[in-house]
Amino acid sequence: MNAGIRHLVSIDDLSLPEILELFQHAKDYAQDLRAHSHVARGLISASLFYEASTRTRLSFESSMLRLGGGVLTAADMRLSSASKGESLADTVRVVSGSYADIIVLRHASEGAAQLATEYSNVPVINAGDGSHEHPTQTLCDLYNLWIERGRIEGLHVMLAGDLRYSRTIHSFVYALARFGANIVCLPTPGFELPPYVVQRLREEFGVEPVRADGEKLGELARSCDAMYLTPQKPHQLSLFTDAKGISVEHVDAVYMTRPQTERYTSADTLPPRPMSLSKQTLSRESLRDAVVMHPLPRRDEISSDLDEDPRSIYFKQAARGVPIRMAILALLLGRLELSAPRAEVDVRYHPVALGENPCPNPTCISRTENRHVTARYKLASRFPVRGFCAYCSQELPARWVGCSTTGVYHERESAAARQIRPDHLVFFRDEAQAHALGFTTVAKPVPPGVEPEPARAAGV
Ligand code: NCD
Repeated sequence: MNAGIRHLVSIDDLSLPEILELFQHAKDYAQDLRAHSHVARGLISASLFYEASTRTRLSFESSMLRLGGGVLTAADMRLSSASKGESLADTVRVVSGSYADIIVLRHASEGAAQLATEYSNVPVINAGDGSHEHPTQTLCDLYNLWIERGRIEGLHVMLAGDLRYSRTIHSFVYALARFGANIVCLPTPGFELPPYVVQRLREEFGVEPVRADGEKLGELARSCDAMYLTPQKPHQLSLFTDAKGISVEHVDAVYMTRPQTERYTSADTLPPRPMSLSKQTLSRESLRDAVVMHPLPRRDEISSDLDEDPRSIYFKQAARGVPIRMAILALLLGRLELSAPRAEVDVRYHPVALGENPCPNPTCISRTENRHVTARYKLASRFPVRGFCAYCSQELPARWVGCSTTGVYHERESAAARQIRPDHLVFFRDEAQAHALGFTTVAKPVPPGVEPEPARAAGV
């Protein structure tokens, strides 16, 4: 792996000024899509798609061709050596060896793109990793808002449908929160934003979730627990208190999503009447001038009689995927310099010192490709000790944590737990797991002449 390479794994990899500058370049490209065939001449992109795609793959390939580059496409990785048991890590090593100058990767496991960056000699673009993130769709969505509304800050954006498994939603809410947009969530019951996403919105972006009073949204809001996320933090209410919700008076954009049924487990059941946007709902005063967006493919969430409505922009939205992806490719290929400062991304991921992989997510790449992945985590807070999986971002559900050098474990809320160095932390689901690895609650005496572990010296 080359540490100097710039990848796009999460929407957090781009600063807000960079995103706005990319929009300007996309707008320039869009003036004449055929006038930029010198930008990536001599360069090749490889599309590695382990999951179905129409728009993302074709718009990336079109963008690369329009920039004058070439494309290698593995549109169905079931026809590749993956079907012979080749790991993602090995495939990426080979493709980034001399075959391609950039990799566009879609995969069913959360964290796959992060793993690919660890084995790639060329930039990796996350074209969707399981239900985790889809940063280039978010750039396309933000670009559409910027074109249609002229700004993102202060907009009221309504997100509806399967908010739990839609990766487009997760990248989008992080970006909307950073831009200072107001977000109204209308989840299909049972498919609310996942806790790790809500927690991040709260802790990192200062967004407070409050129950929304969806009265003015009509039919759509009737069946669900609407949630209002506002970045200015004026509300001291916590998630779904009984306090009166914030009334949703006016919406600038409605973003519909389809049920992500390919990710459902036997525990997930859709309500008998799926959520659907109709002419009647759109005639509500609060939605009078809302643009209607959808990452597509759609099923029944938007009835086709809305297609000719001037507020429906979902096909334009897909078309704008080309100029924005041209800008992304040009940037990562080193053919476009931005003057905006880069995002300060915290990349301090610590390997989990010992024991089982504590990631709770069975479809995380750290669990599905364990030949090549060492479980790693990001420390979210020291008191209580809380860690997130470095690949899928889900919280490690450890109530107990230990120190790999002292062999002592503690409750994660304890002051002693806070003293453990992050690279010595071991996560335990329960005390039995700690005992099985030889951990105890009492420190063994330090032999004379041996430098004490800092954690011990601090009184553990
Ligand atoms: C989305 C995806 O793949 O996550 N599609 C896309 O990239 N435009 C949305 C979806 O499949 O529902």
